[in-house]
Amino acid sequence: MYYRRYNKEVNVLGKRWWDKSVIYQVYPKSFYDSNNDGIGDIRGIIEKLDYLKDLGIDIIWLSPVYKSPMDDNGYDISDYYDIDKQFGSMEDMDSLIEEGNKRGIKIMMDLVINHTSDENAWFIESKSSIDNPKRNFYIWKDPKPDGSAPNNWRSIFGGSAWEYDENTKQYYLHVFSKKQPDLNWENEQVRKELYKMVNYWLDKGLGGFRVDAITYIKKDNTFKSLEADDNEGLAHINAGSLNQEGIENFLAELKENTFSKYDIVTVAEAPGIPREQLKKYSGPEGFFDLLFEFGHSDLDVAEDGKWYTPKEWTLQEFKDALFKSQEVYNDLGFGALFLENHDQPRSLNKLIKEEDIGLSSAKMLATIYFLLKGIPFVYQGEEIGMTNVKYDSIEEYNDISSIDQYNSAIRDGLSKEEALTSVHNRSRDNARIPMQWDDSKNAGFTKGKPWLKANNNYKEVNVKNNLEAEDSILNYYKKLIDLRKNSEYSDVIVYGKYKGFMENDKNIFAYIREYEDKKLLILANFYSQNIKLKLNYTVEKVLLSNYGSFDISNGEIFLKPYEALVLAVL
Ligand code: NOJ
Repeated sequence: MYYRRYNKEVNVLGKRWWDKSVIYQVYPKSFYDSNNDGIGDIRGIIEKLDYLKDLGIDIIWLSPVYKSPMDDNGYDISDYYDIDKQFGSMEDMDSLIEEGNKRGIKIMMDLVINHTSDENAWFIESKSSIDNPKRNFYIWKDPKPDGSAPNNWRSIFGGSAWEYDENTKQYYLHVFSKKQPDLNWENEQVRKELYKMVNYWLDKGLGGFRVDAITYIKKDNTFKSLEADDNEGLAHINAGSLNQEGIENFLAELKENTFSKYDIVTVAEAPGIPREQLKKYSGPEGFFDLLFEFGHSDLDVAEDGKWYTPKEWTLQEFKDALFKSQEVYNDLGFGALFLENHDQPRSLNKLIKEEDIGLSSAKMLATIYFLLKGIPFVYQGEEIGMTNVKYDSIEEYNDISSIDQYNSAIRDGLSKEEALTSVHNRSRDNARIPMQWDDSKNAGFTKGKPWLKANNNYKEVNVKNNLEAEDSILNYYKKLIDLRKNSEYSDVIVYGKYKGFMENDKNIFAYIREYEDKKLLILANFYSQNIKLKLNYTVEKVLLSNYGSFDISNGEIFLKPYEALVLAVL
């Protein structure tokens, strides 16, 4: 076992095995189906390791593969020590770690410890009687005198966050679905059990953990009702359960008993952490190494979380969200750089006008986020330009939150068409459709019946085509990764300071990275028209260009629509 020592100087400069890494997120259910039952599996991932190696990936973040009834596709764990049969066996998991190691790829598992499944043995015991020793593993409360729920908190997937149990006449709390009861972190026994489990997995040689919903583990223990924000009298649960005072003690204890004992990388899902507190949460002295922030990815979602409440956003807001954190990471270490994950629609649809989606805009998006200060994450299919899906009816969707949002839209008076349009735009299934490997049936994902229908565009948008075409998005990603890891500019890309450039321009997305004697200008036209610019820098070299040709002369640059350039400048 390796004990990491905190030498501030060294850590701020990075110099850990994962500093130069590129992380690829695999959503196992949709990645590759090796046994043709219609569901992706661990053996399927092993078969595709060489593809990921060739792309230049160092770490795979694997969404949950633990045993689960799949109410929320594995984010509802019924046995932390077992692998779900749909995905394979513990032996398969061990071979994935081993086969990954052979190729220099580490596995980062998903750690879901805010809640379990209601089918977890702990919950089954907890529910069995009021005086069961596991009763306090979860959060149980008496009904109000009129029999109603203890307070008016609304769960993230809709409806009251409390579920009544007839047998013991109490309610239990669930921040997410009612099949995902929240663990009671106030109970020391719970915490000890969790730490034991975390170390069990780390002892297998994982590269790290992506830590799910961790900022929800501490609740407002007064459990008071909040001001209602819907016509059912319910209030969004965040004010009573997200980033609550005192959470630091739990997070520090978690790190001390688990992560700090291993040479790993941790990344936490942490919505809503105020920027001033980033230092406490991430970096060498933080609770985690990296943090996923969502300011830039949830710009299109209204305060109330309803997908059908339209929310306009501007490029300026998008830039501000990313750049303000970059300033913090200059002193702190690294950001977790991402545009997509399994909870988000595809970035091309979110960020680019439909008529402009194509090679240039996809490569431009890749360029602008990849070279910020941090560790880049690529979500499966992002590297080939996969886009949103539009199923004809809500019945074709699987995602629990899409179904809730649809029903809630209808309750709020929207027509079926309008409700479906909001699901088209925002559904998490947009990211969960089968990975598009080739132009054969079901996009080459399975020879069986896929659990979710493949997108119609798979004949054009697929890995096979991307591998064959020299100017493909995939090959562009390879160039970006090569520049980050193997070029003479690697140190500036990994360790260089971020500096703003034209931050307030309404069509340009640009920034500088600086390290020792090297300076890079990342410059992109986030607009569908040509733009002419005068530069105060001398362009030494063009390191990457998404069009392949560029127009720079006499200190002037002509940028074509969605053109992106990586320039070494003086
Ligand atoms: C965040 C995960 O990313 C999401 O997919 C899941 O539904 C919730 N946490 C609950 O675990």
